[in-house]
Amino acid sequence: MSSQLAKKSSAWSARFSEPVSAIVQRYTASVTFDKRLALYDIAASVAHAQMLAAQDILSQEDWIAIQKGMSQIKEEIEAGEFEWKIELEDVHLNIEARLTTLIGIAGKRLHTGRSRNDQVATDIRLWLRDTIDECIFALTRLQTSLLDLATLHANLIMPGFTHLQVAQPVTFGHHLLAYVEMFGRDTSRLQDVRKRVNQLPLGAAALAGTSFPIDRQQVAQSLGFEGICANSLDAVSDRDFAIEFTAAAALVMTHISRLSEELVLWMSPSLGFIDIADRFCTGSSIMPQKKNPDVPELARGKTGRVNGHLMALLTLMKSQPLAYNKDNQEDKEPLFDTADTVLDTLRIFAEMVPGITPKPEKMRLAALKGFATATDLADWLVKRGMPFRDAHEAVANAVKTASALNIDLAELSLQQLQELIPEIDDTVFEVLTLEGSVAARQHPGGTSTEQVRQQIASWRQRLSKNG
Ligand code: ARG
Repeated sequence: MSSQLAKKSSAWSARFSEPVSAIVQRYTASVTFDKRLALYDIAASVAHAQMLAAQDILSQEDWIAIQKGMSQIKEEIEAGEFEWKIELEDVHLNIEARLTTLIGIAGKRLHTGRSRNDQVATDIRLWLRDTIDECIFALTRLQTSLLDLATLHANLIMPGFTHLQVAQPVTFGHHLLAYVEMFGRDTSRLQDVRKRVNQLPLGAAALAGTSFPIDRQQVAQSLGFEGICANSLDAVSDRDFAIEFTAAAALVMTHISRLSEELVLWMSPSLGFIDIADRFCTGSSIMPQKKNPDVPELARGKTGRVNGHLMALLTLMKSQPLAYNKDNQEDKEPLFDTADTVLDTLRIFAEMVPGITPKPEKMRLAALKGFATATDLADWLVKRGMPFRDAHEAVANAVKTASALNIDLAELSLQQLQELIPEIDDTVFEVLTLEGSVAARQHPGGTSTEQVRQQIASWRQRLSKNG
């Protein structure tokens, strides 16, 4: 049976002796998802038409008609009244066709000196520029939430872990600040990507440029681009800016995922370090006692999805010969979903962080359990002249003894300690406490409360400049 033919003819159908089959029409169309670019497409078309008129490539009447038509189309789209047609393939041809219906021949002149190839590259860059700004705003909000929580708990002691084994005491504020640093680097990565996104492809036309005397600088200026893409072949073909954004987003999600993993662990009754407000948790349909940290779990899961989008885009780009290929139409869904996922996640985390309540007693008991001040004892001996390696061994013996007695280092008597390490006197107990250990780490980057407060203050200043 021969395949069904599509009903309507396309913008390019004059060269063809038959319409595409219905399945090909559906397969090649992108309007179902790229209509999301509509308002950017209109803005870019208006800037293009304005330049054409300024260069006398379009008449003033045509330019006025195009502006009028486009503002009506914008209203229709915003009101949800615009009728998207799959037979018109994509957002660009849908809008152009509607413009021609509304204003006639001037609509048919709009495409002078451009191609959908430079048009789509321009639209994506405009959309991505706004999206990056939204991501940076959302990151700043999340950092602010973390700073607020860190301020409340700058001196709350918890165990710090390496290998998930109790290592040394840290403050909860210090732990939270580690994530503020990560999200700070994410922000600067996005700011960096933004510079490369913010270059104008329009004017490259299909691939080689155009024979019309266009003014690309004017278009760049009216659309707020920092500069123009210098090579027309490159301008229409590369999507490295989209890949870079997705890579930066994958790192944001990776940081979110690490935080999520910690929240899940901390909320597990076996650690019990925190509680998360009920509005961010769900129950179980079978086990009445359950309160599950669904939001962090789901965020951890969604990280995989963004990593997948990064792989999809890298794979999409590899092996593409210059210049534009239809493969590039596949850039949009991963890109859009990356933006939606990362923005939703950042926003929900900014709201959830104030709903985190630490449980100081549980944290303290856990910190006391794992010989968290053993390094402090070794440091104490080193300060009295013992080489670090010898101090390490002496303390390891003390830990072995305390462990056999099922008590903490600080619970060994002075006599017991002196039997193991004769150099010891009773001033050692000051450094064996959790508070003593934390207070001793008094240098930039250290966990002492004073340092944490300084870090918070310096971050607040940096963020106020951002916003
Ligand atoms: N919908 C297309 C895309 O997203 C627009 C460019 C199509 N260009 C072409 N020559 N078919 O890439």
